[in-house]
Amino acid sequence: MPTPLYTALVEHKERGRASFHTPGHKNNPGALPPDLLSLDFTELPDTDSLFEADGPIARAENLAAELFGAKRTCISAGGCTLCIQAMFRLAAPGGGKIVCSRVLHRSAVNTMALLDLTPVWAMPEDVLSVLAKTPDAKAVYVTSPNYYGQLLDIPAIAEACRARDIPLLVDNAHGAHLMFTEPKLHPLALGASMTACSAHKTLNVLTGGAWLHIADSRYTADAKEAMALFASTSPGYPVMASLDLAREWLRLHRREFGPLQEKVSEIKAVAQNRGISLPGGLTDPTRITLNTASAGIPGIEAADLFRQAGVEPEFADGAHVVFIATPFNTDRDFLRLKDAIERLPVRIPLPQAPELPELPPVKTSLREAVFAPSESVPLEQAAGRIAAQAACPCPPGVPVVMPGEEITKEILRFLRGYGFFAIKVLK
Ligand SMILES: Cc1ncc(COP(=O)(O)O)c(C=O)c1O
Repeated sequence: MPTPLYTALVEHKERGRASFHTPGHKNNPGALPPDLLSLDFTELPDTDSLFEADGPIARAENLAAELFGAKRTCISAGGCTLCIQAMFRLAAPGGGKIVCSRVLHRSAVNTMALLDLTPVWAMPEDVLSVLAKTPDAKAVYVTSPNYYGQLLDIPAIAEACRARDIPLLVDNAHGAHLMFTEPKLHPLALGASMTACSAHKTLNVLTGGAWLHIADSRYTADAKEAMALFASTSPGYPVMASLDLAREWLRLHRREFGPLQEKVSEIKAVAQNRGISLPGGLTDPTRITLNTASAGIPGIEAADLFRQAGVEPEFADGAHVVFIATPFNTDRDFLRLKDAIERLPVRIPLPQAPELPELPPVKTSLREAVFAPSESVPLEQAAGRIAAQAACPCPPGVPVVMPGEEITKEILRFLRGYGFFAIKVLK
């Protein structure tokens, strides 16, 4: 096969499955102009330069800041990862402790290692109490919404951060659209100091397009330098242009989230009628997360059934299947999803995930654990060793061990129960 990747993409497209995964444009021809190839230019006098922007890129960023109510917005063609890297750099340029929700993407773990920051881990529901016990924290970092669409109490965390005069950084990778839902749930509107938003996941943006929104003017001046520290000097112009187009689409079509929320509610009702439970608490009204284990079907197995029914989900784990729905899904997509849910072979509920073991003791800094020589060992030989990688069984999607932490016997038993058989440890 002379072009294996290109061919795989063409073949995947030909299968014509309903797309409930990223990117949010769903390859819908109404989402973006088809001629973006012809606009793949570079830094030219006419086209501005991302990290020294003073022309059309600066104007596009200003319009995005205006729409989202930010003091400054920076465009990223390097995904939300680049925005997360910049947030840490801006919040703690001299290093220090960051109170971190333990539910976080690996880009955040890697950035803290690169910048030699010290995470002080908190289970998502314990962020406030861990913050209270960490008087020298430089910032708080949380993920909200998480992959399943569950949201944290951002107003309460923001208030605690304000009282301590430290910034609240929110990984809002899955919530770029939440400024336009009813209710408005975007963390920037709820008091966050900075948000990293993967626009390409839930909006009509090409893969890699994201926004860093900054609400606190103390961090605006150095934002571009912080982004440039980690970024390629060749950001894709079609990606950046799609962010500009999506921003204008949002300005004109924000009402389209109403019908989307209705369609999502209908799908959720169909699932609940079949005995499939949904995540509790405050959730993104556009995210569909089905706990298929509650209807006796492991998430991974259910995802296969959905694929066979012509529906491609975003993600599946032992218990859940996650679907990303956007205004660019067609009625036919929703019909297929509804049919597929109705055809699931519902059985008796599977047992719930076991309780998480206690967080293990930290033995070395995150940076040392990520960069020191390491080796992969069978799980049986890992007790008492120091982890060089995170291990994150799903559900619950919370890492039980992070780089630099001791692999206790309890953790070892827990990982074995999830089918882990090897782990990377420090030499
Ligand atoms: C919670 C979370 N944060 C950050 C990222 C990184 O986003 P990006 O792929 O846009 O760099 C992801 C990607 O899946 C994510 O799920």
